[in-house]
Amino acid sequence: MLGRVTGWVRAVDGVSFDIYERETIGVVGESGCGKTTLGRTVLRLIEPTEGIIIFAGKNITKFNKKRLRSLRKDMQIVFQDPYWSLNPMMLVRDIIAEPIEEHIKGKIKVEERVCELLKLVGLPEEAMWRYPHEFSGGQRQRIAIARALSTNPKFIVFDEPTSFLDVSVQAHIINLISELQQKLNLTYMFISHNLGVIQHVSNKIAVMYVGKIVEMGLVDQIFEEPLHPYTQALLDAIPVPDPDAHKGRVLLRGKVPSPENPPQGCRFHTRCPYKMEICTKTEPQLSDMGKLHKVACHLIS
Ligand SMILES: Nc1ncnc2c1ncn2[C@@H]1O[C@H](COP(=O)(O)OP(=O)(O)OP(=O)(O)O)[C@@H](O)[C@H]1O
Ligand SMILES: [Mg+2]
Repeated sequence: MLGRVTGWVRAVDGVSFDIYERETIGVVGESGCGKTTLGRTVLRLIEPTEGIIIFAGKNITKFNKKRLRSLRKDMQIVFQDPYWSLNPMMLVRDIIAEPIEEHIKGKIKVEERVCELLKLVGLPEEAMWRYPHEFSGGQRQRIAIARALSTNPKFIVFDEPTSFLDVSVQAHIINLISELQQKLNLTYMFISHNLGVIQHVSNKIAVMYVGKIVEMGLVDQIFEEPLHPYTQALLDAIPVPDPDAHKGRVLLRGKVPSPENPPQGCRFHTRCPYKMEICTKTEPQLSDMGKLHKVACHLIS
C-alpha cells in the first residue's frame, strides 16, 4: 500500500531460445508460469533484469526510447482479450490507422492501407466506420490482428489470442493467423495454455513451468515423444473422444507453486509422480537430447 518493494518475483528465469524467420514458437504452460512475461520481455515491453534479446541480428536489450520506437513497427503483439485491447471510443479506421500514422505516415495512403488490411483479415471495408462494440469477439480479434499487421511487422507475439473466443470461432482465427504467416512471411511467438491449439500453429514448442522452460522441441517431438512428466501431463489433459486413449496418463495433482517462492531443486518435484531424491535438491539443467529436443529432468538426463 505504501509502494514499498516487499519481495521479488522471477516470473521468467534463465530462459534461452532462438526463433528463426518464418517460424512459430509455441509457448505453453499453466496460468502464472510466465508466458506473458516472456512474450513482453522479448518485445521489450518489460525490462529484463538480466540477459540479452537479439532481433534481426541486433542486440536490442539496451535500445533507448527512440531506437525502440522505430523497432516497434517491426515487432507487434496481439493480446488475449479483444474486448479490452481495442479502444471503445475509436472508430475501427482509427484503431488500425494509429500505428500507421505513428510509424509510416506520409509513405502510404492511410485509408487504402486500412481497406487492404481489413480485406486481409476477412472483414468488409465498411467495418472501418464502425466502433468495436458493434463486432463479435472473433471479429474484434480480426481487427486487433489488422492493427498488428498495419506497419508490416516481421515478428508478432500472439498472447492467447483465442482463449476468450467460442470454440467454433477459435479455429477460424487460428487458420487466419496461419494463412497470414504464409502470405506475409511472418515470424511468430504463439502463447497458449492449450497444447491442442499450439499444435496447429507451431513449428517448435517451449513448455514452461514456474518461469522455466522444462522441455523444448519440434512439434512432432513434443507430441510423439514427450520426455518431461509435465509435458506428458499437459498432453494427457487434451480432451479426446476415445476414453481408453488416456489409460496410464500422468495426472497433475496439487497447485502450481508460486514463482515468489519456487521449490528447491526441480520446480516440478512437488507434483511429479516420478520424484527422486535428487529432484528435491538439485535443479535439472535443460539438456540437449539431439535434433533440437531439450529437456530439464533428472529422470532423463
Ligand atoms: N508486476 C508483477 N508483480 C508481481 N508479480 C507479477 C507481476 N507480473 C507478473 N507477476 C507474476 O509472475 C508470474 C507470471 O505471470 P505471467 O502473467 O507471465 O503468467 P502467464 O503464464 O502469462 O499466466 P496466464 O496464463 O494466467 O496469462 C505470475 O505468478 C504473476 O503473478
Ligand atoms: Mg498470460
